[in-house]
Amino acid sequence: MSTRVVAVTGAAAGIGRATALTFATRGWTVGAYDVDEAGLADLAEEAATLPGEVRTGRLDVTDAGEFEARLAELVEHTGRLDALVNNAGILLAGAFTDRDAEAHGREVDINVKGVMHGLHAGYPHLRRTASEQGDAVVVNMASASAIYGQPELANYSATKFYVRGVTEALDLEWGPQGIRVRALWPLFVQTAMTQGWSTGTTGSLGIRLTAQDIADAVLLAVEPPRHSEALHQVHFPVGTQTKVLSLGSRFSPAWLTRLVNKRLAHA
Ligand SMILES: NC(=O)c1ccc[n+]([C@@H]2O[C@H](COP(=O)([O-])OP(=O)(O)OC[C@H]3O[C@@H](n4cnc5c(N)ncnc54)[C@H](O)[C@@H]3O)[C@@H](O)[C@H]2O)c1
Repeated sequence: MSTRVVAVTGAAAGIGRATALTFATRGWTVGAYDVDEAGLADLAEEAATLPGEVRTGRLDVTDAGEFEARLAELVEHTGRLDALVNNAGILLAGAFTDRDAEAHGREVDINVKGVMHGLHAGYPHLRRTASEQGDAVVVNMASASAIYGQPELANYSATKFYVRGVTEALDLEWGPQGIRVRALWPLFVQTAMTQGWSTGTTGSLGIRLTAQDIADAVLLAVEPPRHSEALHQVHFPVGTQTKVLSLGSRFSPAWLTRLVNKRLAHA
């Protein structure tokens, strides 16, 4: 069997970088993509001694054509695409009216359209790999902010509801073709994304998770233990706090979920 292959967006830093290194450590061939070419060069250097090959390339996820080209190059080299990790994203914190429509539009372009482009570009390769190998998987990076709309992160939070919805829908649509579609739901993670700002919720809950915690969870979503496959787990909350909030929101009445989120956000 040839080496398994994963493509990771936003791989130059934070969660994407940790994910690329984690898969390469386990011998996977990794296509690592980002707009930050200096960060990618640094990643390639760090990965040079790992068992898996890391192939880096510039990819702005807002550019559908670039996405198609990078994945086509990768599959031309490897002959397969077992997993696609739609990870690239940005976060704008603060009051909704502190940002103009252009800034919010950029957040939508990266967090929503970037994922959509990845799904379109990845599908033909994932489908072929699924038909040849019996399995392929997409992991979309959602967030705990897709549990309930978050004040001071309103637009960001809304972009993650797209990720949640498209994951659930395509898991049903693509499942019969052997493509699993999964979403990760981390709470706040210690990366560049969470530096330099705070909200009521970061004050209440802290920033406890590391990029490696999330990379390990990506691996778990790609290679799930039997019980989670038997239960057909689509969403993977990461960390105890997220698991509690996620579970609570499923079983508490809407007014209570709102109240908990209001209190946590000091809104
Ligand atoms: N950090 C958190 O607290 C947290 C929590 C939940 C979910 N997430 C999600 O995890 C993902 C990664 O976040 P992170 O914390 O590692 O952030 P990060 O800022 O550390 O890294 C994001 C990476 O994405 C890249 N990127 C940005 N725009 C891009 C574009 N248009 N095309 C390609 N690459 C682009 C950046 O260059 C950077 O390397 C995001 O989708 C984020 O929303 C993060």
